[in-house]
Amino acid sequence: MKELDSLRQEFTAEIEKAKTSQDVEAIEIKYLGKKGPVQQLMPLLKNATPEERPLLGKQINDLKTEFSDTIEQKLAAFQSEEWNRQLEEETVDITIPGRRRYRGAKHLINTVLDEVIDIMIEMGFSVQYGPEIDTDYYNFKALNFPENHPAMDMQDTFYITDSVLLRTHTSNIQTRFMEGNKPPIRIIAPGRAYRNEDVNARSHVFFHQVEALYIDKDVNFSDLISTMEVFIHKLFDPSIKIKFRPSYFPFVEPGMEVDIHCMVCDGEGCPVCKHTGWLEVAGAGMVHPEVLKNGGIDPEEYSGYAWGIGIERLVMLKYGIHDIRIFTENDQRFLKQFV
Ligand code: DAH
Repeated sequence: MKELDSLRQEFTAEIEKAKTSQDVEAIEIKYLGKKGPVQQLMPLLKNATPEERPLLGKQINDLKTEFSDTIEQKLAAFQSEEWNRQLEEETVDITIPGRRRYRGAKHLINTVLDEVIDIMIEMGFSVQYGPEIDTDYYNFKALNFPENHPAMDMQDTFYITDSVLLRTHTSNIQTRFMEGNKPPIRIIAPGRAYRNEDVNARSHVFFHQVEALYIDKDVNFSDLISTMEVFIHKLFDPSIKIKFRPSYFPFVEPGMEVDIHCMVCDGEGCPVCKHTGWLEVAGAGMVHPEVLKNGGIDPEEYSGYAWGIGIERLVMLKYGIHDIRIFTENDQRFLKQFV
Protein backbone atom coordinates (compact mmCIF):
# COMPACT_ATOMS: atom_id res chain seq x y z
CA MET A 1 0.00 0.00 0.00
CA LYS A 2 2.85 2.28 0.82
CA GLU A 3 4.46 1.55 -2.45
CA LEU A 4 1.22 2.39 -4.24
CA ASP A 5 1.05 5.67 -2.44
CA SER A 6 4.58 6.77 -3.24
CA LEU A 7 4.05 5.74 -6.86
CA ARG A 8 0.92 7.85 -6.95
CA GLN A 9 2.82 10.84 -5.54
CA GLU A 10 5.66 10.42 -8.01
CA PHE A 11 3.21 10.14 -10.87
CA THR A 12 1.20 13.18 -9.78
CA ALA A 13 4.28 15.32 -9.41
CA GLU A 14 5.51 14.35 -12.86
CA ILE A 15 2.24 14.77 -14.65
CA GLU A 16 1.80 18.21 -13.17
CA LYS A 17 5.10 19.26 -14.68
CA ALA A 18 4.14 18.07 -18.17
CA LYS A 19 4.06 20.93 -20.61
CA THR A 20 3.12 19.26 -23.86
CA SER A 21 1.15 16.25 -25.02
CA GLN A 22 4.49 14.61 -25.83
CA ASP A 23 5.50 14.91 -22.18
CA VAL A 24 2.24 13.24 -21.19
CA GLU A 25 2.76 10.44 -23.67
CA ALA A 26 6.25 9.83 -22.31
CA ILE A 27 4.83 9.62 -18.79
CA GLU A 28 2.20 7.19 -19.99
CA ILE A 29 4.85 4.88 -21.37
CA LYS A 30 7.00 5.27 -18.31
CA TYR A 31 4.28 4.37 -15.78
CA LEU A 32 1.86 2.20 -17.66
CA GLY A 33 4.23 0.51 -20.07
CA LYS A 34 4.96 -3.24 -19.86
CA LYS A 35 8.12 -2.63 -17.89
CA GLY A 36 6.67 0.26 -15.92
CA PRO A 37 6.23 0.36 -12.13
CA VAL A 38 2.52 -0.42 -12.18
CA GLN A 39 3.16 -3.65 -14.01
CA GLN A 40 5.98 -4.36 -11.60
CA LEU A 41 3.44 -4.33 -8.75
CA MET A 42 1.82 -7.51 -10.04
CA PRO A 43 4.32 -9.92 -8.40
CA LEU A 44 3.28 -8.39 -5.04
CA LEU A 45 -0.03 -10.15 -5.46
CA LYS A 46 1.69 -13.49 -5.30
CA ASN A 47 3.21 -12.69 -1.95
CA ALA A 48 -0.02 -11.39 -0.51
CA THR A 49 -2.17 -13.57 1.70
CA PRO A 50 -5.35 -14.91 0.12
CA GLU A 51 -7.36 -12.46 2.26
CA GLU A 52 -5.32 -9.44 1.21
CA ARG A 53 -5.12 -10.43 -2.41
CA PRO A 54 -8.53 -9.25 -3.73
CA LEU A 55 -8.16 -5.92 -1.98
CA LEU A 56 -4.62 -5.40 -3.19
CA GLY A 57 -5.61 -6.44 -6.73
CA LYS A 58 -8.39 -3.88 -6.70
CA GLN A 59 -6.04 -1.19 -5.41
CA ILE A 60 -3.56 -1.87 -8.21
CA ASN A 61 -6.31 -1.83 -10.80
CA ASP A 62 -7.75 1.37 -9.41
CA LEU A 63 -4.30 2.96 -9.55
CA LYS A 64 -3.99 1.93 -13.21
CA THR A 65 -7.38 3.39 -14.03
CA GLU A 66 -6.58 6.51 -12.09
CA PHE A 67 -3.31 7.01 -14.00
CA SER A 68 -4.82 6.44 -17.38
CA ASP A 69 -7.79 8.72 -16.61
CA THR A 70 -5.42 11.48 -15.54
CA ILE A 71 -3.37 10.97 -18.67
CA GLU A 72 -6.44 11.09 -20.83
CA GLN A 73 -7.70 14.26 -19.22
CA LYS A 74 -4.33 15.89 -19.50
CA LEU A 75 -4.04 14.97 -23.17
CA ALA A 76 -7.55 16.25 -23.84
CA ALA A 77 -6.66 19.52 -22.15
CA PHE A 78 -3.55 19.96 -24.27
CA GLN A 79 -5.50 19.01 -27.34
CA SER A 80 -8.18 21.62 -26.78
CA GLU A 81 -5.56 24.20 -25.82
CA GLU A 82 -3.88 23.46 -29.15
CA TRP A 83 -7.17 23.73 -31.02
CA ASN A 84 -8.02 26.98 -29.38
CA ARG A 85 -4.68 28.44 -30.31
CA GLN A 86 -5.08 27.25 -33.85
CA LEU A 87 -8.58 28.63 -34.04
CA GLU A 88 -7.41 31.96 -32.77
CA GLU A 89 -4.54 32.08 -35.22
CA GLU A 90 -6.68 31.18 -38.16
CA THR A 91 -9.65 33.28 -37.30
CA VAL A 92 -11.03 35.24 -40.22
CA ASP A 93 -13.31 38.13 -39.66
CA ILE A 94 -15.79 37.61 -42.42
CA THR A 95 -17.50 40.89 -41.65
CA ILE A 96 -14.51 43.01 -42.75
CA PRO A 97 -15.29 44.57 -46.13
CA GLY A 98 -13.15 43.15 -48.98
CA ARG A 99 -10.17 45.00 -50.32
CA ARG A 100 -10.61 45.89 -53.97
CA ARG A 101 -7.93 44.59 -56.28
CA TYR A 102 -7.40 46.55 -59.44
CA ARG A 103 -7.08 44.60 -62.59
CA GLY A 104 -4.97 45.89 -65.42
CA ALA A 105 -6.78 46.69 -68.61
CA LYS A 106 -5.95 46.57 -72.26
CA HIS A 107 -5.08 50.04 -73.47
CA LEU A 108 -7.69 51.57 -75.76
CA ILE A 109 -5.10 51.94 -78.51
CA ASN A 110 -4.49 48.20 -78.38
CA THR A 111 -8.20 47.48 -78.30
CA VAL A 112 -8.75 49.36 -81.55
CA LEU A 113 -5.49 48.08 -83.07
CA ASP A 114 -6.68 44.54 -82.41
CA GLU A 115 -10.05 45.31 -83.97
CA VAL A 116 -8.33 46.63 -87.08
CA ILE A 117 -6.07 43.59 -87.20
CA ASP A 118 -9.01 41.19 -86.82
CA ILE A 119 -10.92 42.80 -89.66
CA MET A 120 -7.90 42.74 -91.96
CA ILE A 121 -7.11 39.12 -91.14
CA GLU A 122 -10.72 38.26 -91.92
CA MET A 123 -10.20 39.89 -95.31
CA GLY A 124 -7.17 37.73 -96.04
CA PHE A 125 -4.26 39.91 -94.94
CA SER A 126 -1.46 38.61 -92.75
CA VAL A 127 0.29 40.63 -90.04
CA GLN A 128 3.93 41.70 -90.33
CA TYR A 129 6.05 43.91 -88.13
CA GLY A 130 8.69 46.33 -89.34
CA PRO A 131 11.43 47.93 -87.23
CA GLU A 132 10.74 51.17 -85.37
CA ILE A 133 14.39 52.13 -85.79
CA ASP A 134 15.21 52.07 -89.47
CA THR A 135 17.46 53.61 -92.08
CA ASP A 136 16.55 56.67 -94.11
CA TYR A 137 16.63 54.32 -97.08
CA TYR A 138 13.59 52.27 -96.06
CA ASN A 139 11.78 55.16 -94.46
CA PHE A 140 12.29 57.65 -97.30
CA LYS A 141 14.50 56.90 -100.29
CA ALA A 142 13.10 53.50 -101.22
CA LEU A 143 9.67 55.09 -100.99
CA ASN A 144 10.53 57.53 -103.72
CA PHE A 145 10.97 60.59 -101.53
CA PRO A 146 13.02 63.08 -103.53
CA GLU A 147 16.47 63.93 -102.13
CA ASN A 148 15.44 67.16 -100.34
CA HIS A 149 11.92 66.34 -99.30
CA PRO A 150 11.00 68.41 -96.23
CA ALA A 151 9.87 65.30 -94.31
CA MET A 152 13.52 64.22 -94.24
CA ASP A 153 14.47 67.35 -92.39
CA MET A 154 15.74 67.13 -88.81
CA GLN A 155 12.86 69.36 -87.86
CA ASP A 156 10.36 66.66 -88.74
CA THR A 157 12.24 63.45 -88.10
CA PHE A 158 14.11 62.03 -85.12
CA TYR A 159 17.52 60.98 -86.40
CA ILE A 160 19.75 58.66 -84.40
CA THR A 161 22.67 59.02 -86.80
CA ASP A 162 22.91 60.65 -90.23
CA SER A 163 21.14 57.72 -91.81
CA VAL A 164 19.39 55.93 -88.94
CA LEU A 165 16.11 57.27 -87.65
CA LEU A 166 12.89 56.54 -85.81
CA ARG A 167 10.49 55.63 -88.55
CA THR A 168 8.06 58.41 -89.38
CA HIS A 169 5.45 55.97 -90.69
CA THR A 170 4.76 52.26 -90.95
CA SER A 171 5.30 52.55 -94.71
CA ASN A 172 8.92 51.53 -94.02
CA ILE A 173 7.68 47.93 -94.12
CA GLN A 174 6.84 48.17 -97.82
CA THR A 175 10.22 47.85 -99.54
CA ARG A 176 11.60 45.62 -96.81
CA PHE A 177 8.79 43.15 -97.30
CA MET A 178 8.91 43.27 -101.10
CA GLU A 179 12.64 42.53 -101.02
CA GLY A 180 12.06 39.24 -99.25
CA ASN A 181 8.73 38.16 -100.73
CA LYS A 182 7.25 37.64 -104.13
CA PRO A 183 3.70 38.66 -105.04
CA PRO A 184 0.96 38.00 -104.28
CA ILE A 185 1.59 40.15 -101.22
CA ARG A 186 -1.26 40.90 -98.87
CA ILE A 187 -0.02 42.22 -95.53
CA ILE A 188 -0.73 44.73 -92.85
CA ALA A 189 1.90 46.22 -90.54
CA PRO A 190 0.70 47.71 -87.27
CA GLY A 191 3.04 49.69 -85.08
CA ARG A 192 4.39 52.93 -83.74
CA ALA A 193 5.70 55.85 -85.72
CA TYR A 194 7.56 58.93 -84.53
CA ARG A 195 7.66 62.53 -85.62
CA ASN A 196 9.49 65.54 -84.32
CA GLU A 197 6.39 67.63 -83.78
CA ASP A 198 4.98 69.91 -81.14
CA VAL A 199 2.80 67.95 -78.77
CA ASN A 200 -0.72 69.28 -78.54
CA ALA A 201 -4.29 68.00 -78.34
CA ARG A 202 -4.24 66.76 -81.94
CA SER A 203 -0.68 65.59 -82.53
CA HIS A 204 2.02 63.75 -80.63
CA VAL A 205 5.64 62.77 -81.17
CA PHE A 206 4.63 59.15 -81.40
CA PHE A 207 1.47 57.47 -82.56
CA HIS A 208 0.26 54.25 -84.13
CA GLN A 209 -0.48 53.34 -87.70
CA VAL A 210 -1.53 50.29 -89.60
CA GLU A 211 -0.02 49.97 -93.03
CA ALA A 212 -1.67 47.79 -95.66
CA LEU A 213 0.07 46.51 -98.77
CA TYR A 214 -1.51 44.49 -101.51
CA ILE A 215 0.44 43.51 -104.63
CA ASP A 216 -0.61 41.07 -107.32
CA LYS A 217 -1.35 40.94 -111.03
CA ASP A 218 -4.11 43.35 -112.14
CA VAL A 219 -4.67 45.07 -108.83
CA ASN A 220 -6.43 48.32 -109.58
CA PHE A 221 -7.78 51.44 -108.00
CA SER A 222 -11.27 50.03 -107.55
CA ASP A 223 -9.82 47.16 -105.49
CA LEU A 224 -8.35 49.78 -103.20
CA ILE A 225 -11.60 51.76 -102.94
CA SER A 226 -13.77 48.74 -102.29
CA THR A 227 -11.43 47.14 -99.74
CA MET A 228 -11.08 50.43 -97.90
CA GLU A 229 -14.83 50.89 -97.88
CA VAL A 230 -15.51 47.42 -96.51
CA PHE A 231 -12.84 47.93 -93.87
CA ILE A 232 -14.21 51.26 -92.64
CA HIS A 233 -17.77 50.00 -92.64
CA LYS A 234 -16.75 47.01 -90.57
CA LEU A 235 -14.76 49.10 -88.14
CA PHE A 236 -17.38 51.81 -87.65
CA ASP A 237 -20.80 51.22 -89.07
CA PRO A 238 -22.09 50.21 -92.49
CA SER A 239 -24.01 53.46 -92.70
CA ILE A 240 -21.00 55.74 -92.30
CA LYS A 241 -20.24 58.02 -95.25
CA ILE A 242 -16.76 57.91 -96.75
CA LYS A 243 -15.06 60.41 -99.04
CA PHE A 244 -11.98 59.81 -101.18
CA ARG A 245 -9.98 62.93 -101.91
CA PRO A 246 -7.02 63.15 -104.32
CA SER A 247 -3.75 63.76 -102.49
CA TYR A 248 -0.03 63.38 -102.91
CA PHE A 249 2.42 60.93 -101.34
CA PRO A 250 5.73 60.21 -103.10
CA PHE A 251 5.25 56.44 -102.87
CA VAL A 252 1.86 56.19 -104.57
CA GLU A 253 0.39 57.26 -107.87
CA PRO A 254 -2.41 58.16 -107.86
CA GLY A 255 -2.66 59.00 -104.19
CA MET A 256 -5.60 59.95 -102.02
CA GLU A 257 -6.75 60.69 -98.55
CA VAL A 258 -9.73 59.03 -96.99
CA ASP A 259 -12.23 61.06 -95.00
CA ILE A 260 -15.15 59.82 -92.99
CA HIS A 261 -18.25 61.74 -92.06
CA CYS A 262 -17.74 63.35 -88.64
CA MET A 263 -19.78 61.36 -86.17
CA VAL A 264 -19.11 63.77 -83.34
CA CYS A 265 -21.26 66.51 -84.91
CA ASP A 266 -22.97 64.36 -87.56
CA GLY A 267 -21.42 66.53 -90.24
CA GLU A 268 -22.71 69.81 -88.79
CA GLY A 269 -19.19 71.06 -88.12
CA CYS A 270 -17.37 70.99 -84.78
CA PRO A 271 -13.86 71.48 -83.36
CA VAL A 272 -13.03 67.79 -83.88
CA CYS A 273 -13.56 68.00 -87.65
CA LYS A 274 -12.35 71.59 -87.74
CA HIS A 275 -15.85 72.59 -88.85
CA THR A 276 -15.67 70.71 -92.14
CA GLY A 277 -17.98 67.82 -91.24
CA TRP A 278 -15.29 65.38 -92.39
CA LEU A 279 -12.35 63.66 -90.74
CA GLU A 280 -9.23 62.45 -92.45
CA VAL A 281 -8.40 58.91 -91.32
CA ALA A 282 -5.99 57.46 -93.87
CA GLY A 283 -3.64 58.02 -96.79
CA ALA A 284 -3.71 55.56 -99.65
CA GLY A 285 -2.90 55.00 -103.28
CA MET A 286 -1.54 52.73 -105.97
CA VAL A 287 2.03 51.72 -105.19
CA HIS A 288 4.39 53.84 -107.29
CA PRO A 289 6.28 51.88 -110.00
CA GLU A 290 9.57 53.17 -108.57
CA VAL A 291 8.70 51.69 -105.19
CA LEU A 292 7.86 48.33 -106.76
CA LYS A 293 11.19 48.43 -108.59
CA ASN A 294 13.07 49.24 -105.37
CA GLY A 295 11.42 46.19 -103.86
CA GLY A 296 12.54 44.01 -106.77
CA ILE A 297 9.07 43.70 -108.26
CA ASP A 298 8.45 44.32 -111.94
CA PRO A 299 5.88 47.12 -112.31
CA GLU A 300 5.05 45.89 -115.82
CA GLU A 301 3.85 42.61 -114.40
CA TYR A 302 2.47 43.60 -111.01
CA SER A 303 0.56 46.44 -109.47
CA GLY A 304 -0.65 47.10 -105.97
CA TYR A 305 -2.19 49.42 -103.49
CA ALA A 306 -1.12 50.60 -100.07
CA TRP A 307 -2.64 52.54 -97.25
CA GLY A 308 -1.65 53.92 -93.92
CA ILE A 309 -4.26 54.49 -91.28
CA GLY A 310 -3.77 56.47 -88.09
CA ILE A 311 -4.99 54.63 -85.01
CA GLU A 312 -5.14 57.44 -82.45
CA ARG A 313 -7.53 59.34 -84.67
CA LEU A 314 -9.81 56.32 -84.95
CA VAL A 315 -9.79 55.75 -81.20
CA MET A 316 -10.57 59.40 -80.52
CA LEU A 317 -13.50 59.22 -82.90
CA LYS A 318 -14.85 55.95 -81.58
CA TYR A 319 -14.66 56.95 -77.95
CA GLY A 320 -15.22 60.70 -78.13
CA ILE A 321 -11.73 61.56 -76.82
CA HIS A 322 -10.62 65.10 -77.53
CA ASP A 323 -6.97 65.10 -76.52
CA ILE A 324 -4.37 62.70 -77.92
CA ARG A 325 -2.08 63.26 -74.91
CA ILE A 326 -4.38 61.34 -72.60
CA PHE A 327 -3.29 58.06 -74.23
CA THR A 328 0.22 58.30 -72.83
CA GLU A 329 -0.24 60.15 -69.55
CA ASN A 330 -1.08 56.95 -67.65
CA ASP A 331 -3.83 58.70 -65.73
CA GLN A 332 -5.56 55.94 -63.78
CA ARG A 333 -8.87 57.77 -63.92
CA PHE A 334 -8.78 57.40 -67.69
CA LEU A 335 -7.31 53.91 -67.91
CA LYS A 336 -9.65 52.40 -65.32
CA GLN A 337 -12.67 53.16 -67.44
CA PHE A 338 -11.68 50.46 -69.86
CA VAL A 339 -11.23 47.49 -67.53
N1 DAH B 1 2.75 56.98 -94.67
C1 DAH B 1 1.75 58.02 -94.81
C2 DAH B 1 1.78 58.91 -93.58
O1 DAH B 1 2.25 58.51 -92.58
C3 DAH B 1 0.38 57.47 -94.95
C4 DAH B 1 0.21 56.72 -96.24
C5 DAH B 1 -0.24 57.37 -97.34
C6 DAH B 1 0.51 55.38 -96.30
C7 DAH B 1 -0.44 56.70 -98.54
C8 DAH B 1 0.34 54.68 -97.48
C9 DAH B 1 -0.14 55.36 -98.60
O2 DAH B 1 0.60 53.38 -97.60
O3 DAH B 1 -0.33 54.69 -99.75
O4 DAH B 1 1.32 60.03 -93.66
